Amino acid sequence: MHFFAILPFILGVVSCLRLTIAPGGGNTSSQLLYGLLYEEIYHSGDGGLYGELIRNRAFQGSSAPGRIASFQRNTDFWHPVGGVNLSIDTTGPALSDSLTYQLRMDIPAGTQGSVGFYNDGFWGFNVDTSKRYAASFYMRGDYDGDVECYFNNTLNGQKLSSSKITARQASSSRWFQYYFPTFKPTASASTPNNTFYFVFDGSKLAGKSVYFNLLSLFKQTYLNRANGLREDLAQSLADLKPSWIRLPGGNNMQGLSFGNHFKWNESVGPLQNRYGKLSTWGDIETQGFGLLEQMQMAKDMKLTVVLGLFAGLYLNRDLIPQNQLQLYVDMAMNQLEFLTGSTSTPMGAIRAQYGYPEPFEVNWVEIGNEDYLNNGQASYYSYRFMAFYNAIRAKYPDMNVISTINPSPSPDDGSGGIIDLHIYNNQNHFANLYNTFDQASRNYPVFVGEYAAIRTGTGTGSEIGAQTFGMACGEAIFLLGVERNSDIILGSAYGALIKQYDEEPNTVAVVKHTANELLHSMSYYLQQLFAQNMGTETLPITATEGGLGPVWWSATKTSKNTILKMVNYNGATGAANAVKVQITGSTASTAQLTVFTADSENSSNKLPSHGGDEHRIIKQTITAKDGLFEVAFSKPYEIVILTV
Ligand SMILES: *[C@@H]1O[C@H](CO)[C@@H](O)[C@H](O)[C@H]1NC(C)=O
Ligand SMILES: *[C@@H]1O[C@H](CO)[C@@H](O)[C@H](O)[C@H]1NC(C)=O
Ligand SMILES: *[C@@H]1O[C@H](CO)[C@@H](O)[C@H](O)[C@H]1NC(C)=O
Ligand SMILES: *[C@@H]1O[C@H](CO)[C@@H](O)[C@H](O)[C@H]1NC(C)=O
Ligand SMILES: *[C@@H]1O[C@H](CO)[C@@H](O)[C@H](O)[C@H]1NC(C)=O
Ligand SMILES: *[C@@H]1O[C@H](CO)[C@@H](O)[C@H](O)[C@H]1NC(C)=O
Repeated sequence: MHFFAILPFILGVVSCLRLTIAPGGGNTSSQLLYGLLYEEIYHSGDGGLYGELIRNRAFQGSSAPGRIASFQRNTDFWHPVGGVNLSIDTTGPALSDSLTYQLRMDIPAGTQGSVGFYNDGFWGFNVDTSKRYAASFYMRGDYDGDVECYFNNTLNGQKLSSSKITARQASSSRWFQYYFPTFKPTASASTPNNTFYFVFDGSKLAGKSVYFNLLSLFKQTYLNRANGLREDLAQSLADLKPSWIRLPGGNNMQGLSFGNHFKWNESVGPLQNRYGKLSTWGDIETQGFGLLEQMQMAKDMKLTVVLGLFAGLYLNRDLIPQNQLQLYVDMAMNQLEFLTGSTSTPMGAIRAQYGYPEPFEVNWVEIGNEDYLNNGQASYYSYRFMAFYNAIRAKYPDMNVISTINPSPSPDDGSGGIIDLHIYNNQNHFANLYNTFDQASRNYPVFVGEYAAIRTGTGTGSEIGAQTFGMACGEAIFLLGVERNSDIILGSAYGALIKQYDEEPNTVAVVKHTANELLHSMSYYLQQLFAQNMGTETLPITATEGGLGPVWWSATKTSKNTILKMVNYNGATGAANAVKVQITGSTASTAQLTVFTADSENSSNKLPSHGGDEHRIIKQTITAKDGLFEVAFSKPYEIVILTV
């Protein structure tokens, strides 16, 4: 409750506000302030960060945008070539215990020419001559002949690549895996309107049926990892310079209904071990971007991991009763040993067998997700949280255990029970949160594990996907409050991180993607700028000739620099209204000014093909006059960072 005490929002005219920054006397800042929430939502993973380009590669279920996905199998996103029939088949032997549905191709008697099928990809395919591609598939059936795979441009019918192998198999009783030679396309495509073909010699298959599973295509991945990440999207995350990540969610970790939580053991090992998961927002997930791939990403980007653990509550209020919770506690304990145990532990040995001998570091776990919702509060306090807490602390005494409800049920309560707060609201709500943590108890360290301004102004309508500069300015004022209180605010993360651009609903996200392009939101640049300009210590500021609003501020320092961040929020502009900044004890005569600006609060960034970014980041050097730096805003909504 005390976290949401809100100061009235003040709009006023400021004249010649003067800020005096003390040289010290503040608090030590958390170094985890800017982080990431990864979870599968609207193709964050499959068709997004996860490098697999084939959609419905292993026939794991049905996606149903805007509705609930299902394990109903289909041939969606696949199309026949050369008069064959495609269907889902369950005759044995299956490829694996987890992948028991396969694609069956029936070829009419008398067939000549090419037969096969093509895939639509995730809103098309990116075809790029500068990159390597690797395709593979499993096949069962009688076939001795060539197989070719290639991109076909659907706009002009042009074949953009080719890679061939020869299959020699006579058996319908076992599966053969084929890897095509890696290839580079012969021409790039300027749009994603491409399909990917697998074709066979029809005359050698006439009158037969053959079976396929795990049909795969990867473009060259981030850091060239096998089963890795889409390069440009992963690089965008790394470029944010985040310090921590919560994985694997979130609502999607919890699951929609009984049995649909994130099961770590079904997301690791060979891909044919991965059954698939009903994601929370209408998609069936391959789980190809599983626990180990997510941990590897965190390691590659040097991120501190906050591991989200399923705690017995589903989104539809299904609840694991107390006498059955032990199974889930055991699952979490196995998961922790799997990630952090040496290769001489039973679970650590399995991890090594899967190709990850080196243990991962996990020092933070979060018990559940948003347990104050869905009728979860009473059971969280009465048995769920403590069952996990006790088991985890008994084996890992130094583990930081985060509660999703405030206050934490942990016995550390009052002296370190960490909580995770989630805030989604309109732009002005965020601007009003500047002071909210000033009043917070210093005994409750906080992660703001999810936040986002999802509407402009004081709006109450539906979420606005095309995030505006004004929304980012509201968030910036909130982040100033986070930074000023970074003795107790451990970290923040925006929700959602990644979303497919075309998919409905149109919600906010830090980065949106099509097969060919990325849209970095205003908040992307805000988080990047704040992360790049983070201090190790907060600094007290004295304001004279004006007060907070419409200009808001926070100052920190590193061993080398003093950093002042200011947000103009519907404020005055021009030299006559410049903020005069004095840094006590500093003799510096010049300072670096970074201005994050846009034409108006309504500006929003677009895909490059739709006009591109509408913001500008301008760096300039300013000179002190009589020991004062004068910082003038050029727009009523603007964010500046002064570094001395
Ligand atoms: C440091 O934290 C204390 C509360 O523990 C707070 O009163 C003070 O304002 C903080 N200092 C700065 C510079 O934010
Ligand atoms: C393909 O399906 C059609 C319609 O069900 C059927 O008439 C035809 O015999 C099938 N062809 C093969 C080769 O199975
Ligand atoms: C090209 O692909 C885009 C994105 O999937 C789609 O909206 C558009 O309709 C396609 N254009 C054509 C001509 O097929
Ligand atoms: C490419 O796609 C077009 C339809 O868009 C089709 O007519 C053509 O046969 C395809 N080309 C190849 C080589 O598969
Ligand atoms: C994964 O673990 C859960 C709980 O421990 C278990 O119910 C499930 O059968 C396991 N899945 C596989 C594929 O072993
Ligand atoms: C921004 O949009 C709002 C709502 O449409 C409008 O009232 C306002 O005038 C716009 N601001 C600018 C600077 O265009």
